[in-house]
Amino acid sequence: MSHHVPTDRPLVVIANRLPVSQTDDGWQAAAGGLVTALRPVIEATGGAWIGWDDDAEAVPRRVEGLACDLHAVPLSRAQVRGYYHGFANRTIWPLFHDLVVQPVIDRSWWRAYAEVNNRFAEVIADVVRAMDTPPLLWVQDYHLMLLPEMLRRRLPDSPLGFFLHIPFPPPELVARLPWRNQLLEGLLAADAVGFHTRLYRDNFVRSVQQLYGGVASLGDTLALPDGRHVRTVANPISIDVEEFSELARDDETEEELAELREQFEGRRVFLGVDRLDYTKGIRHRLQSIQLLLERNPRLRREFAFIQIAVPSRDDVKEYRELRTEVETEVGRINGRFTEPGHDVPVHYLYRGVSRAKLAAYYRLADVMCVTPLKDGMNLVAKEFVTCQAAGDGDGALLLSEFAGALLEFGDDAIRCNPFDVEGMSYLMEAALDLDPADRRARLRRLAESVRSADVYTWVDSQLGEIERSSRRP
Ligand code: ADP
Ligand code: G6P
Repeated sequence: MSHHVPTDRPLVVIANRLPVSQTDDGWQAAAGGLVTALRPVIEATGGAWIGWDDDAEAVPRRVEGLACDLHAVPLSRAQVRGYYHGFANRTIWPLFHDLVVQPVIDRSWWRAYAEVNNRFAEVIADVVRAMDTPPLLWVQDYHLMLLPEMLRRRLPDSPLGFFLHIPFPPPELVARLPWRNQLLEGLLAADAVGFHTRLYRDNFVRSVQQLYGGVASLGDTLALPDGRHVRTVANPISIDVEEFSELARDDETEEELAELREQFEGRRVFLGVDRLDYTKGIRHRLQSIQLLLERNPRLRREFAFIQIAVPSRDDVKEYRELRTEVETEVGRINGRFTEPGHDVPVHYLYRGVSRAKLAAYYRLADVMCVTPLKDGMNLVAKEFVTCQAAGDGDGALLLSEFAGALLEFGDDAIRCNPFDVEGMSYLMEAALDLDPADRRARLRRLAESVRSADVYTWVDSQLGEIERSSRRP
């Protein structure tokens, strides 16, 4: 399908990660909503992608399946430790996810973060100077919050946008950061700053208002004391609905699904799919499952909970601890409830799975558990309803009130508070008891709401906002 290209400037995307991965068959374009959605624009405009990779020296300028230049920012191991494992993932990540674990404040990490953002700015400036027209620069996520300011100084002629893929917390939490002013000033140098929801956007606006007295907020525009205007945009990221619908029905998926159906025949299947991250509420979910099985002995044979946990950030202490806790909990539940001669109730996969397998699991599930303690958006929820609808399924979505996706889904999802472990276990029961016609109608509406705002809508509207705001005096 051809998509409208929302800018005629070259698009330069800047993100911590490059959209490539190294496989047995060499370097390949990474699968993922952001890459899929940006590919048409970046390719049509002759753009580039700038980011970091573990193996920066080896990253080729081009990979198959993505016709844009790749530029890897080489970083030393010490820089990666301070910037990525430290400041980004042990300070900002927990703080911006409402302190589900305690953030660590470490001045050497902050210095590394600033240094790496500066390193990115230098590489970007070199890339841009070699281009014929000033490109549109679009910076992604919490790893690079100082970058807009560093780019504005070096490249004043380029429209400049930023999008935050995680929540923006209330000002009381931002206040804990000794470097909050620098971070806010870093972001405010962009022409447009995007967030998934109005709540995150409003938190940002309130934080800015506390930083400078007298900032006027006129609709979506912030008027700063120096006369500059910055547009703040609330616009949820989404998925490529066509691509997932096709994936859900392709032959490989059907084969995987047939195998899974055989394996889980006669059982109701609950599913969780998450990076193994403490924000995802996996432990709370397992505790609810435990209560569910405790109350319903019959279910012990007629029920399966499959948790796919994708390995993530395992150089970070809190992530390693989480893995131990989750695996202990899985062992405890299976030890307690497995009946001789029968399968275990909890299937735990600590690995990534192929796209076809992922889609097959989505189609298999009777109840999808998306129960994060805090999540900026959660694409898994959108992928699930899309794959179910494509397969004419009637699976139910149990969705946390603390996931950004809830705002779009409203009451068609079964809303839960993952901190209330017992309450969540009753909702799991209720999900099983929903009338099938009701389940199907809910699923249709959920899938329709994803279809009506897919990732192309998101890219169009973000790029449009950045272009328009950069043209204002
Ligand atoms: P986060 O960005 O915090 O990881 P999201 O739910 O927004 O959470 O996005 C996760 C993405 O990772 C989804 O697009 C999903 O398809 C992908 N993903 C999740 N599990 C797997 C897996 N086992 N194998 C491959 N991709 C996965
Ligand atoms: C979240 C962040 C992304 C990040 C992803 C995976 O979705 O918003 O920026 O890329 O998690 O985490 P990782 O640390 O492996 O890049």
